[in-house]
Amino acid sequence: MKNFTSFADAGDYKALLQQALEIKANPYGYQHIGRNKTVGLIFFNPSLRTRLSSVKAAYNLGAQAWVLNAGTDSWTLETADGAVMDGSTQEHIKEAIAVMSQYCDVLGVRTFPTLTDREADYGEVFFNKILSYATVPVISLESATLHPLQSFADLLTVAETKRAERMKVVLTWAPHVRALPQCVPNSFCDWFTDIDWVDLVITHPEGYELDPKFTRGARIEYDQQKALEGADYVQAKNWSSYYDYGQVLSTDPGWMLTPAHMALTNDARFLHCLPVRRNVEVSDAVLDSPNSLIIQEAGNRTFAMQTVLHELLKKGI
Ligand code: CP
Repeated sequence: MKNFTSFADAGDYKALLQQALEIKANPYGYQHIGRNKTVGLIFFNPSLRTRLSSVKAAYNLGAQAWVLNAGTDSWTLETADGAVMDGSTQEHIKEAIAVMSQYCDVLGVRTFPTLTDREADYGEVFFNKILSYATVPVISLESATLHPLQSFADLLTVAETKRAERMKVVLTWAPHVRALPQCVPNSFCDWFTDIDWVDLVITHPEGYELDPKFTRGARIEYDQQKALEGADYVQAKNWSSYYDYGQVLSTDPGWMLTPAHMALTNDARFLHCLPVRRNVEVSDAVLDSPNSLIIQEAGNRTFAMQTVLHELLKKGI
């Protein structure tokens, strides 16, 4: 593993998942890996889980961690190539990323999509610039199109709770009051389409089809109730349109997950990456039910990050 930005970077996912299970069972057993190492974390967008679980993951490994909220903790950063910086931006990411690389052994970075320029977002123009300026391995803490640490934590959560050899996993679109990125659903598909014991079904209103590069032939079912029938896991998430880029095409409250929806499933466990808009995306009764794994799932963000850090830092040992 050179960087960690997508499922492809995971390489042998079975080995990585096994490592995550071992690290979770013995979280302080690998502290030699992080000794005298520093993990840098840069956020261009807000975060609760990613920020705190990444710091905890570094500490568990015996490493130090620093966090920078770009723009508020630092100078206002310029990202455009060839910019004439006579406006509000004070430092270019070209210098900033190169400088910060000297202050850490691994750099985690969260960027964001424009949701207006699909070509730039899906070309990961911003994140690729960071990769080119960094001189240490880079971990995606969410980019314009993907959130691989979230999906790795989701996979870990499903793997440690599954009740049979094969699992039907349903990703369902849910309503929201804002236009949100496609990162989480893209990444969920990127990871779960290739898991050999998972049958992935994606359900959403027409117009919310995701980039086929990530869904890779997974079954798409526009009838949410039909999709949920017999599901072992249900992951709910809102996203804006990929084809009508960044647009909200539906706010149909009928897509909000309720106990009536969950009653169609095979006593399914419920997943959501959080944060969640209660009683908009998902009802209280589903979020607070014994089948809800949302807190365990968020807890597994630590072990997903710790496993990735372990892979990247062990090379220098
Ligand atoms: N799921 C997730 O990435 O949460 P944060 O945005 O709070 O980090």
